Amino acid sequence: MLSLEEIEVVFQQHYFDGMGAVSRYDAKFLCDLIQESQPAKCFEVGVASGMSTTFLLKALAKLGPDTELVSVDISRQYYADRSKQVGYIVDAAIPRLGCQFGLHFNHWSADAEKFAAEEKFDFVFIDAHHGHPWATLDTMLVLPFVNPEAWISVHDIALQEIPKFASQTGPLRVFEAFPEPKRKSQFENQNIGAFQVTGRHRDYEDQLLASLAQTWTVSGVVKESFYNRIFEIVERFYSASFAAQVRKQIEAHNQKKNAK
Ligand SMILES: C[S@@+](CC[C@H](N)C(=O)[O-])C[C@H]1O[C@@H](n2cnc3c(N)ncnc32)[C@H](O)[C@@H]1O
Repeated sequence: MLSLEEIEVVFQQHYFDGMGAVSRYDAKFLCDLIQESQPAKCFEVGVASGMSTTFLLKALAKLGPDTELVSVDISRQYYADRSKQVGYIVDAAIPRLGCQFGLHFNHWSADAEKFAAEEKFDFVFIDAHHGHPWATLDTMLVLPFVNPEAWISVHDIALQEIPKFASQTGPLRVFEAFPEPKRKSQFENQNIGAFQVTGRHRDYEDQLLASLAQTWTVSGVVKESFYNRIFEIVERFYSASFAAQVRKQIEAHNQKKNAK
C-alpha cells in the first residue's frame, strides 16, 4: 500500500497552486482502492500534469509488472503550463516504470473501445471536463468496456462547493446517479468517490438518463466530432430507446446554445 509519506514526496517535488491535480488525500483514496480491488488493467481519462497518473502507476507497480494503465487526454499540452507536455510529471517521478503504461494525447473516453480490444478494464478514473454532463458521457462511453465488478472513480465531486467552480457539477451528478456499492473519500472536502459496476452497461441506462436529466452546465455546444462519436458508440452498445433519448438531449442542448 502506498503510504501518505510516499505520496508526500511526489507532492513536495511537483505540486504548485492552481495545477488542477488530485490532492495528496485524493491520491491516497485512489491508491487504497487500487490496493483493495487489485485491478489488472486501468483506464484514466484526464491526465493534465500527470499527478494522478503517477499515483495510479505507483499503486499498480505494487500489484505487479503485468498490471497496466492506459491514460488518455484530449490535449497534448498541459493546460496550466503550455510549455509542458501532458503527463510530464510521470517521467520525473518514476524513473523506471513498474507496470505497463500507455499515454495517449488527443484521445478521450470514446477511445476506450480501441484500448479494450483484448482485455477490458477493471478500474477507471475519470477527471476530465467537469461541466455537466461530461463525466456522465465519459462513464456512458467506458461502461461497455469494463469487466464485472470494475470500479469507476470520479474526481472533483465536491468542486461545485467552491463558489468560483459552482457550475462544475458534472462529476457529482454521475456519482449521485449511480447506486451502491459506492465509496467517498473521508479526507478533507470528500472530493473523490467511486462506484462499482455490478451489472452490464445496459443495466445502467436509467441511472445515466437520470443524470442527463439534471441541468447541463457545459458552456458551449457539444461539438459535431464529439457528438458523432458519442452516437456511434451509444447506438451500437445501448438500447435504441436509450440512444434516442441521449440524441434528443444533446440536440436540445445544442439548439439552445445555437439560439443564443
Ligand atoms: C483536471 S485535469 C486532470 C488532472 C489529473 N487527473 C490530475 O489529477 O493530475 C483535466 C484534464 O482533462 C483533459 N480533458 C478535458 N476534456 C477532456 C475529454 N473530453 N477527454 C479527455 N480529456 C479531457 C484536459 O485536457 C485536462 O488535461
